Amino acid sequence: RKAQPDLAAGKPISQDLFGIFFEDINYAADGGLYAELVQNRSFEYTPNDNAAWHSLTAWEFLREGYSFGTMSVETAAPVNPSNPHYVTLHVENEMQKGLGLKNSGFDGIPVKAGDQYNFSVQARVKGGKTVPLLVQLRDKEGGVLATASLPVQNASWQPYRVTLTPTGTDAAGSLVVVATGKGTVDLDLISLFPQKTFKNRPNGMRADLAQAIADLQPKFVRFPGGCLAHGDGLENMYRWKNTIGPLEQRVAQRNIWNYHQTAGLGYFEYFQFCEDIGAKPLPVVPAAVSCQNSGGTWRIGGTGQQSIAMAEMPEYVQEVLDLIEYANGPTTSTWGAKRAAAGHPESFHLEYVGVGNEDKQTPEFRERFKLIYDAVKQKHPEVTVIGTVGPAPRGEDFDQGWTFANQLAVPMVDEHYYESPEWFLKNNRRYDSYDRKKSTVYLGEYASRGNTLFNALAEAAYMTSLERNGDVVRLASYAPLLAKEGHTQWNPDLIYFNNSTVCPTANYYVQQLFSRNQGSEYFGGVLTATDSAVVSSCVRDANSGDVILKLVNSGATAQPVRVDLSRFKRLRPTAEVITLSGPRDAKNTFASPQTVVPKTAPFKASGNFAYTAAPYSLTVIRVKGS
Ligand code: AHR
Repeated sequence: RKAQPDLAAGKPISQDLFGIFFEDINYAADGGLYAELVQNRSFEYTPNDNAAWHSLTAWEFLREGYSFGTMSVETAAPVNPSNPHYVTLHVENEMQKGLGLKNSGFDGIPVKAGDQYNFSVQARVKGGKTVPLLVQLRDKEGGVLATASLPVQNASWQPYRVTLTPTGTDAAGSLVVVATGKGTVDLDLISLFPQKTFKNRPNGMRADLAQAIADLQPKFVRFPGGCLAHGDGLENMYRWKNTIGPLEQRVAQRNIWNYHQTAGLGYFEYFQFCEDIGAKPLPVVPAAVSCQNSGGTWRIGGTGQQSIAMAEMPEYVQEVLDLIEYANGPTTSTWGAKRAAAGHPESFHLEYVGVGNEDKQTPEFRERFKLIYDAVKQKHPEVTVIGTVGPAPRGEDFDQGWTFANQLAVPMVDEHYYESPEWFLKNNRRYDSYDRKKSTVYLGEYASRGNTLFNALAEAAYMTSLERNGDVVRLASYAPLLAKEGHTQWNPDLIYFNNSTVCPTANYYVQQLFSRNQGSEYFGGVLTATDSAVVSSCVRDANSGDVILKLVNSGATAQPVRVDLSRFKRLRPTAEVITLSGPRDAKNTFASPQTVVPKTAPFKASGNFAYTAAPYSLTVIRVKGS
């Protein structure tokens, strides 16, 4: 087959084209999408995560009133060997107020009057004596907003739970847990979740942030990275089995982006979230080598070991196969049973697995990738394996990566690029000449280095080319997705947020307009513009019969466009036009989050009509099928 970018008749294109890339970068997971409000809930922070951190980071020792006693971090007989640290409160007198701990959350604990919060703790007492715990939400001045008591009675670890309903609001409150009676009590996994999580899932996602993601209507979700997937040494490669099961069994580790991963948002939660938003899961597992084969020798704890030893590869390959069984296998299978035990007997319908991320094309990478690829292909031909090429559309690794993928006939490869808006405008024809006989493309990460309207329009223009080439570009996702104010390690991002506000960018609305207006066939020759600042696409959605036109004007002057719909016989005259436009450098900020937002209006579309594309605009015209 030859490239046929501008067919006169409809060309079938990927129905999964526009998805999202979720990486735990910029506090996207802990402190972000994962709704846990307590930071360092298990006392597992270490200087490995961040040189200034330790078991009591984000915690403060509280001695209130006439309280005598001590607090210490212990490791003997922990709640689970995966979760070795806990706190012991040793209280020497019966007192009125309490001795214990205060947690300041991730930049404070946001508390809202009337909302409900689920507190839980793993605890045990020594010496058979009940120790009463007082649990409070406080405002930043120390005022009590909610209070509850929990008598800890059991000598072995046991979860205790209580719901708190604050009477006041504070954007940066705290959680206090103090013992108010004599005795010794051990505490671990001190947790506070808003009762209202996305879809009310326990151990769930922050509702407003998850909703912003759901509103994109992505066709797939890639997770957990990015570089996070392979880590920068063997110690922090993302191993999916460490992230499932009861929270105390999960293995926390240093995040490659220099903070801490609790794994509270683990593989089960990722799969569940995909299902909840109607997106296909696209996990990326390490190709058994760490980031750029570095081994992390420059940091504390970095062993310098770059890849899983070949002798251990059979076990690692099995780990990847087990992931597929965990997602799709029957409940009678070992891993399918674990999925069922977590509350999801039905399959998660895994169709794609990415193997590796921007890995250096070394012999170590190749022999490991091939082992994994061959095994998945043989055992699960129904799953599409996605390979990886270098991080930019040029350079040695990129070319070698493609050669390697084509040699193995890997069905799809993951390309990444972060370039200027001008690059995106200039390279609009990039995929027109891709050889259709070779591997297809997952454009797994891309962004035009900015969040202005112009950046967003450059991406929109490029996305019209992805639609035109939707036969060879099967999947595409902007990256990164989330960034927390004050913890942003990578710019630009699609959605910025803090504890109380979500700020979608102009780029977000571009992604949303394309994702919500995806088609199943592409048609060339429907739109004609005279100026090169205008690019366009026309797709039809086979389900609804709707014809969708997209027009991007990246220039400063209004541009005439001719639209010829005469080939589509069964269209209604009613249509909808959505525009995203404004000054070239306009952008959404926390102070002004609505600066660039789409506007919708009714539109009348006849067989052949003229349209004027506003300066710096994306226009989507959706003509209803009958
Ligand atoms: O998106 C941020 C990072 O960029 C990803 O982790 C990595 O894959 C790429 O280099």
